[in-house]
Amino acid sequence: MPPKPLDYESINENVKKAQYAVRGELYLRATELQKEGKKIIFTNVGNPHALGQKPLTFPRQVVALCQAPFLLDDPNVGLLFPADAIARAKQYLSITSGGLGAYSDSRGIPGVRKEVAEFIQRRDGYPSDPELIYLTDGASKAVMQTLNTIIKGPGDGIMVPVPQYPLYSATIALLGGTLVPYYLEETANWGLDTNELRKSISEARYKGLHVKAMVIINPGNPTGQCLSAENLREVLQFCYDENLVLLGDEVYQTNIYQDERPFISSKKVLMDIGPPLSKEVQLVSFHSVSKGYLGECGQRGGYFEMTNIPPETVDEIYKVASISLSPNVPAQIFMGLMVNPPKPGDISFDQFARESKGILESLRRRARIMTDGFNSCRNVVCNFTEGAMYSFPQVRLPPKALEAAKQAGKVADVFYCLKLLEATGISTVPGSGFGQKEGVFHLRTTILPAEEEMPAIMDSFKKFNDEFMEQYEDHRGYSRL
Ligand SMILES: Cc1ncc(COP(=O)(O)O)c(C=O)c1O
Repeated sequence: MPPKPLDYESINENVKKAQYAVRGELYLRATELQKEGKKIIFTNVGNPHALGQKPLTFPRQVVALCQAPFLLDDPNVGLLFPADAIARAKQYLSITSGGLGAYSDSRGIPGVRKEVAEFIQRRDGYPSDPELIYLTDGASKAVMQTLNTIIKGPGDGIMVPVPQYPLYSATIALLGGTLVPYYLEETANWGLDTNELRKSISEARYKGLHVKAMVIINPGNPTGQCLSAENLREVLQFCYDENLVLLGDEVYQTNIYQDERPFISSKKVLMDIGPPLSKEVQLVSFHSVSKGYLGECGQRGGYFEMTNIPPETVDEIYKVASISLSPNVPAQIFMGLMVNPPKPGDISFDQFARESKGILESLRRRARIMTDGFNSCRNVVCNFTEGAMYSFPQVRLPPKALEAAKQAGKVADVFYCLKLLEATGISTVPGSGFGQKEGVFHLRTTILPAEEEMPAIMDSFKKFNDEFMEQYEDHRGYSRL
């Protein structure tokens, strides 16, 4: 009897190759422990509401009214909802083709795409065309659609930062392309060095790859660094010189915890440079409702903006988007509300400003507590989380721990993270899931646990780590820095 089409040996090999550490072995063990009744602190995914962040009131009011439009006919609606939320809900309903239950244009509701274009224009000071903005079910889908358009086969290389967010490695594997790593420099606060870019592309070309795209994640995940305008200029020049499309993952653009390097979009830097680059470098930029102060991960809303992409390609991307009929419509409304929030003078402005500011200020404090906490631990060093939602400390493991991991059949950082999970309930992701230099070990946590719980979490981490080091350290040296 030959194997059936969905028997394991018959399925697409690329599906088997794609790895996704954020929900990998550690996560599975954490869910098992949770079922057994252990308290688990899930710091493996940047999922703010799952760790207690409250949704902002205004966007939820507007979407609630859009979801239940009969409330708008209720004479008491004004007692429950502010007038600006009511007006906004009516306005959104008027631009859908039958409310939230109807498919929208496959590129997203034109009125929301216009709101996104106006936001980009306000942010960057350069025009943005709604026709070149497509709304998607989260930034993940946008990235997947874009990579799908780029990758033809195993000879196509995509440059990806290492450490990287595994959406990229997994999607490239799924689509049968080849990941071309470029390393971020940990000792320079995870900076991006153009010599490293040149080295990476030369090695890939030497292997016969056609390198087509370069990904930047700014602010970085898992590394938390913010790129300077100078660094972005170098990257754009590199893409121009090497004929690469730049994929700018900017989902953390409002999560900034220092003042020296505010977020600057790749699009703005490209336009600032002027011609010929501004007219020629192809750029696709991504954003999401999942992060920032909204944190609405479960709603699945994202967009991508295309710059210098020819109309025939834009049409093909439209055709492919049409296969899925329509992005999630409620999420499109969240996107509209994210890019066009209440303004000073609006009834809901004060509450909106208080809530959003409160979240970002608390994240800023949490970033500090976490980094300082890690740096107070034996054999742990951690760069400050300048932006995004993660800490990515390096753990210097003693040789005895490396041996114990080997005996247990585990990668050393998986071994460490599993022990951490069993001892403390803190569920992290081992650095090997993001890529790291040979012989160097990290873990990633989010900075999302509630601020008041943070000191206790860091105390329990420190207690575990220092006991672990005590157990395995024999003063023969460590994994190298
Ligand atoms: C760098 C990066 N890009 C994209 C995404 C996906 O975002 P979304 O929830 O919009 O799919 C994430 C989610 O954590 C991320 O960290």
